[in-house]
Amino acid sequence: MLPPPSEVYLDACATAPPAVEVLEAMARAHREAWANPSSLHGHGLAAAERLERDRQALAARLGCGGDELLIVSGGSEAIHAALVGSDGPLEPGRVLLSAVEHPASYAAAAALARRGWDVQLLPVDRRGVVDLEDLQRLLTPPTRLVSVLWGQSEVGTLQPIEAIGALCRQAGVRFHVDAVQVVGHRPVDFSRLPVDLLSCTAHKLQGPRGVGALLVRRGVRLQPLIGGAQEGGRRGGTEPVALVAGFAAALELADRRLAAHGGGDPLASLRDQLLADLRRLEGLRLSGPEPDGPAGRLPHHISLLVDGPEGRPIGGRRLVRELARRGYAVSSGSACASAGAGTAGTSAVLLAMGYDPAEASSGLRISLGPWNSPDDLAGLPAALEQARRGVAVAPG
Ligand SMILES: Cc1ncc(COP(=O)(O)O)c(C=O)c1O
Repeated sequence: MLPPPSEVYLDACATAPPAVEVLEAMARAHREAWANPSSLHGHGLAAAERLERDRQALAARLGCGGDELLIVSGGSEAIHAALVGSDGPLEPGRVLLSAVEHPASYAAAAALARRGWDVQLLPVDRRGVVDLEDLQRLLTPPTRLVSVLWGQSEVGTLQPIEAIGALCRQAGVRFHVDAVQVVGHRPVDFSRLPVDLLSCTAHKLQGPRGVGALLVRRGVRLQPLIGGAQEGGRRGGTEPVALVAGFAAALELADRRLAAHGGGDPLASLRDQLLADLRRLEGLRLSGPEPDGPAGRLPHHISLLVDGPEGRPIGGRRLVRELARRGYAVSSGSACASAGAGTAGTSAVLLAMGYDPAEASSGLRISLGPWNSPDDLAGLPAALEQARRGVAVAPG
């Protein structure tokens, strides 16, 4: 069934509608640079030139060299390329992940475990933040690899990436950051981060699905997951020139938006107003860090735990369906996690943060994008209150 045409899209952390400029850049690349960039004829050279220009544009905006930017199919592949690809260049040892990673990171860690690595999870506090003292204690041999997600998709937590990276550098431990939810919402300068590998994806910032990048610091060796001559022998497969063009256009748009607001995401003020309005309602609690707290929070992100009128947590999935019937597209957590969480819909992320199972199934996520306006959000608190109270939707 198609969603109602009037549905307000508030699920940017799941994916974002491609911007018009992105679609135009992709159509142009499909028309003018459709050939295989490895071909030596004129068509191939045109595609190679277009790919190289877009790679350089992406690299310049992310603060890395073109040779440090590996084109991949998205965040999940980038994470696997970084973690599973570290096996070989690094001897099996201990790999540390936070307890609130994306499922792709746990899948990659499980692949490492099958190859003899010891996987250990770093506990988080009630806000979802990794404890630096715990980390420091574990940054001793045989720890060889650390992977932490910068912006948590379900509860919005920003991890102290610079501090974690500094500790990893001191210990001589390779550090991968999952920056999928962060790129496009704050400036990212790889050249200034104490990070060896950084994953991102185009579709969270209004680019196309099916393309992303792994930034690989010079000198960091990886075992390719897919053999072939492309990407300097680091990732086989004919490069998706038009998708890369769309990714470059999306990042340019996002960067311009940030630059016009002094490097900050203008969505933060829209989010803050909505959060203030929602906080006037009963039965709602923010999960994850306060937007103005010391830990920091994704600027376009609100996550709530919702209690019914009788004070008991309401299943987040039920609320998502109720809000969809009222014209609002939201999520009960991370889209991927809710797909894998089973019928209970209990969030492993909220459990790791110390919530009980009933609370951990009552999560609701509202994530904003540049297409949203204050008018889009004006009716949401009332709709949520009705949904919470089980008020039936008026027919027609
Ligand atoms: C934090 C995080 N990491 C990784 C991914 C996976 O990215 P992709 O969908 O491009 O494979 C997602 C997508 O939901 C995400 O939110």
